[in-house]
Amino acid sequence: MTETLDPAAALAAAGELRRVYLSAFGAPGYDEPPERADQFVEEQLPTHAGRPGFKLVLTREDGAVTGFAYGYTGERGQWWSDRIAEAAPDLAGEWVGGHFEFVELAVAAEVQGRGVGATLHDALLTGLPHPKALLSTYADDRPAPRLYRRKGWQVLLPNLTADSALYGKILSR
Ligand SMILES: CC(C)(COP(=O)(O)OP(=O)(O)OC[C@H]1O[C@@H](n2cnc3c(N)ncnc32)[C@H](O)[C@@H]1OP(=O)(O)O)[C@@H](O)C(=O)NCCC(=O)NCCS
Repeated sequence: MTETLDPAAALAAAGELRRVYLSAFGAPGYDEPPERADQFVEEQLPTHAGRPGFKLVLTREDGAVTGFAYGYTGERGQWWSDRIAEAAPDLAGEWVGGHFEFVELAVAAEVQGRGVGATLHDALLTGLPHPKALLSTYADDRPAPRLYRRKGWQVLLPNLTADSALYGKILSR
């Protein structure tokens, strides 16, 4: 079962989201430090929760949050959308602006490999009004890009940066 949180509820859950974030992204091979998790809940999440189209979904087991995913409506003038448009001018007209920006997907390490990530992915995208979605993820072979490809995302730019790729998905309504 997934829950969908409005911006206020998402911010109220920041402590639990931080714990899941650190469990997922602090793991070996990801190696994000606790300071990055702090920045996530203190700066990134509040900024993104204020954007139009913000949607956050989470899963719980025995009351504790086990995973979450969120995004918002991407528009020109936002840092990331402008970055994509610069990096991929040929794609920008078709993909950037009015799309759903799929920002984060994280599942606590102890419950990975049981379909929670796939469930969160589907819950986040279900019912969106956006015609298209964009995300960036790791360029190497690991669970996240495998999940996205399994879910029908296409690689738009394999080398958005040295270690990240840009993916796009047409959303059926
Ligand atoms: C990416 C991530 C969210 C996936 O979460 P998850 O809950 O493990 O995802 P799933 O369980 O749906 O799928 C993971 C794997 O388990 C497998 N799996 C799912 N259910 C299964 C089951 N019942 N039995 C056996 N295997 C199963 C999937 O096939 C998949 O295998 P693959 O990696 O070889 O393709 C998680 O690994 C994570 O948080 N990673 C660190 C943060 C990250 O990379 N976030 C994305 C940034 S863009």
